[in-house]
Amino acid sequence: MSFLDFHRGRRLRTSASMRELVRENEVRPQDLMMPYFVVETDDEDFRKPIGSMPGQHQLSMKQLKKRVGEAVAMGMKSCILFGIPAEKDPEGSQAYADEGIVQESIRMLKDAYPDLIVAADTCLCEFTSHGHCGLLSPSGEVLNDPTLDLLAQTALSQVRAGADIVAPSDMMDGRVAAIRDTLDEAGFVNTPIMSYAVKYASAFYGPFREAAENSPTSGDRKSYQMDPANRREALREAEADIAEGADILMVKPGLPYLDVIRSLRENFDAPVAAYQVSGEYSMIKAAAQNGWMDGDAVMMESLISFKRAGAELILTYFTEDALRLLNG
Ligand code: PBG
Repeated sequence: MSFLDFHRGRRLRTSASMRELVRENEVRPQDLMMPYFVVETDDEDFRKPIGSMPGQHQLSMKQLKKRVGEAVAMGMKSCILFGIPAEKDPEGSQAYADEGIVQESIRMLKDAYPDLIVAADTCLCEFTSHGHCGLLSPSGEVLNDPTLDLLAQTALSQVRAGADIVAPSDMMDGRVAAIRDTLDEAGFVNTPIMSYAVKYASAFYGPFREAAENSPTSGDRKSYQMDPANRREALREAEADIAEGADILMVKPGLPYLDVIRSLRENFDAPVAAYQVSGEYSMIKAAAQNGWMDGDAVMMESLISFKRAGAELILTYFTEDALRLLNG
């Protein structure tokens, strides 16, 4: 008898079938939600590559329809829309315009692909001339309470257009309650809110700011997004959002915050979503393009890590690539 008689882990790793038999987690097509950037433009064929996100584009509505159609054919079950309006103003009025680019795109996608879950990012920063996620005071402070009604109106207009889920990403306090109230009053009691409950002030959003053209013209987002040093604070944020009526809790970014995903999973029964953000995508793409890593393998390993950490749902720019791979 030797110490090796106690545990022989390699017994269960002898073949692909044996490993499959005891596999604990799996990435399934329905776990993945694809973000798209849609631009308000007269040029129907507008399709502009996002330099810092190889494979991703800003798309006209027509191009969006085509690209989503291809993804749906590969098994994509859900997507989330970000809009880039033709005009921005200090109040971000195109965010809550019934004929805004996001609202029109939701109508178009739901009409073309009724079974596709279409979520809308609910925020003002792509629509405000100053690029902040809320209204600004004359001294440049982001105002919390006066912003809530605009966020609620944004969510309402998105749901009226047919959005299946609204996803507030602004990090104003009380916005989930404000949105829930407004949706319920309008009769949309069955539309879930996926709140960006735990959203850190992260440098990993860098490439997104090129994609969505939402960089703040002054200052940063540290007065409303969270300090990357804090984990317990994430539990307080999640608790507040659950109390206000959030249905799905999101953690963002993803990979650098797997500990936070695990904490939420252990402390709450609500579904947890992970957002693998633009910078995470860009790092993997860049390394793969340089031949430094196997891009597909690293992609799948990062996706399974979210499932292992306890997330049900993954928002990822890799959705289409992963579907291609899963379909063999
Ligand atoms: C803004 C928003 C951001 C992202 C999603 N919604 C950027 C930000 O807070 O500056 C980032 C997503 C990504 O980096 O992929 N409302």
